[in-house]
Amino acid sequence: MATDLEHELAELLDVESFAPEAAFRDRALIADDRVHREAAEDPAGWWLKQAKALSWFREPTVALDDADPPFYKWFTDGTLNASVNCLDRHVEAGRGDRVAFHWRGEEGEVRDVTYADLLADVQRCANALKAHGIGKGDVVGIFLPMIPEVVVAMLACARIGAIHNVVFGGFSAESVRERMEFSAAKALITVDGARRKGRTAAIKAQVDAVGMPVRTTFVVRHTGIECPMGDGDVWWHEALAAADPVCPPEELEAEHPLYILYSSGSTAKPKGILHTTGGYLTQVAWTHRHVFDLKPDEDVYWCSADVGWVTGHSYIVYGPLANGCTSVMFEGAPDYPDKDVWWKLCAELGVTIFYTAPTAIRACMKWGEQYPARHDLSSLRLLGTVGEPINPKAWLWYHKVIGGGRCPIVDTWWQTETGAIMITTLPGAQAAKPGSAGTPLPGIAARVVDDAGEEVPRDTQGYLTLTRPWPSMLRTLYKDDERYVATYWEKYGPRTYFVGDAARQDADGYFWVIGRVDDVLNVSGHRMSTAEIESAIVSHPKVAEAAVIGQSDETTGQSVTAFVTLEGNLEGDEALEAEIREHVAQRIGKLARPKRIIWSDDLPKTRSGKIMRRLLRDIAEGRELGDVTTLRDPDVMSRLEARVKELQAEDGA
Ligand code: PRX
Repeated sequence: MATDLEHELAELLDVESFAPEAAFRDRALIADDRVHREAAEDPAGWWLKQAKALSWFREPTVALDDADPPFYKWFTDGTLNASVNCLDRHVEAGRGDRVAFHWRGEEGEVRDVTYADLLADVQRCANALKAHGIGKGDVVGIFLPMIPEVVVAMLACARIGAIHNVVFGGFSAESVRERMEFSAAKALITVDGARRKGRTAAIKAQVDAVGMPVRTTFVVRHTGIECPMGDGDVWWHEALAAADPVCPPEELEAEHPLYILYSSGSTAKPKGILHTTGGYLTQVAWTHRHVFDLKPDEDVYWCSADVGWVTGHSYIVYGPLANGCTSVMFEGAPDYPDKDVWWKLCAELGVTIFYTAPTAIRACMKWGEQYPARHDLSSLRLLGTVGEPINPKAWLWYHKVIGGGRCPIVDTWWQTETGAIMITTLPGAQAAKPGSAGTPLPGIAARVVDDAGEEVPRDTQGYLTLTRPWPSMLRTLYKDDERYVATYWEKYGPRTYFVGDAARQDADGYFWVIGRVDDVLNVSGHRMSTAEIESAIVSHPKVAEAAVIGQSDETTGQSVTAFVTLEGNLEGDEALEAEIREHVAQRIGKLARPKRIIWSDDLPKTRSGKIMRRLLRDIAEGRELGDVTTLRDPDVMSRLEARVKELQAEDGA
């Protein structure tokens, strides 16, 4: 990967590390290494202490239960409710009038939603769910754009102990149906239409076209687009208006499931990552407060992710609300109506903390400094990134152009599975090195190991592992314990979590994450599986076989390249390419569409028939090919190489 190369460069050139400036450090919540040291003495006990920052019905006395690894449990004798922690306790403390979300619509609409507003809507929504037969332990699907109702829906589930299963709005209706089926969801909460850059997508009609295996579909009226309503369909606003305004929260065990979030793995079937309540909320709230050095009474925080990904779950909804802070929620894209819309909002709302993805930073870099320069960004005091390695060039641009050279940057490494941030720098206490996420947070342990599980020497690349259970870890894959064990705990045993990333640790103990070691792609920080895209392509009637690889891409980190073999004597052309891309959009979502399709009469396979993706990656990126003699048909490589060169010449022309 290009980013890998740049990592090396950064190290070679010894790009400076950036220590926090005195102005930041002097006011920081954590300004030295005492917390790291304290946690190291008794990590589980230290987390139990942090758990006390939450509001419990029954406070836990037990930290970690590791009697049955890798099925770890946390705070088992505690009971709580996530919605109480996110809403009631702030309202009860007299902060009901505080804005929870400055919501801004694509066309400039303004909605400021307070904690009291959210609590009122959440109770009504919870009662509406109950009135439709949904209760503790039931799964509720949520397929909504970035509107406040998505938060209401999630917290309403949490209030009654239902398990939410949010599907990112960029996925196709077909993907939603599959996720509803896998999780046996009883209801779906969706929307009439969703807006994107001036256009409206008829979401409810799309959902109807594939048919959902749920009893009830709640529909939020958002765009006002014509919306078919059939049996089992209920308008959200009518259901809430009819519902009782008071809904006492369920007292739930710490290990009660909070949500399922489907994420791509190395097979075509997405994994239903299961998070529970007490441990998740403890680590999400702690990290949100301390990694972002949050002062809830002063800060205006903005995480630009979509709520449909784990970043949105943990750092738009649960973390910020548990900490009672004011956030920005933006419906639209960063380049609509113009490429300065983010910076315009930062200036208007006085944003102090901004958290985004490297791919977005690279896009802004490409658009040019003139866009941020239109606005006064002096309110910003801390910046963050997540989702993929950030190349030092983009880091330095972010630091200088957006952060005015004064804001620390936290590069936060974590995964859907980890639930919360794991490796980063505490901005008042640790220096940042552009391109490195930093060190494990207090209470977290990581190690880079070789194939046999032995720790590798410093500055040596190996597999990243997590060597101690942490509170916000996934508990299993929904209804699939076997796959949970096989995916994460088989390689190194039930006490060493296999991350799936390559990394190295430098002499200062900083981790440099390089990228995935499995067939998982990272396109614009969106996680996708090669197998899932391949199976979508192969389901096209004209396709015989397909192999998908992630190709390095300057803006999006990786992009999807598909090598496709057609049925019989069919010839590939532009029309068919468009057809296949559309087919993938239908099956998975637009985000999975291959950027380029390379027709190929055969694919490089071993004699046992396994596709050699490594060779395809070498070809696509113009690298010297290694040994091809183990291939069933070594000639296939030279034909493919010629074809790729042809394409590259066309691209360059
Ligand atoms: O490869 C790592 C990369 O994203 C993967 C997790 O993807 P997902 O579950 O979709 O969660 C993304 C948001 C938390 C990781 O295995 N990744 C995430 N953050 C970083 C990163 N790689 C390098 N640096 C990061 N800060």
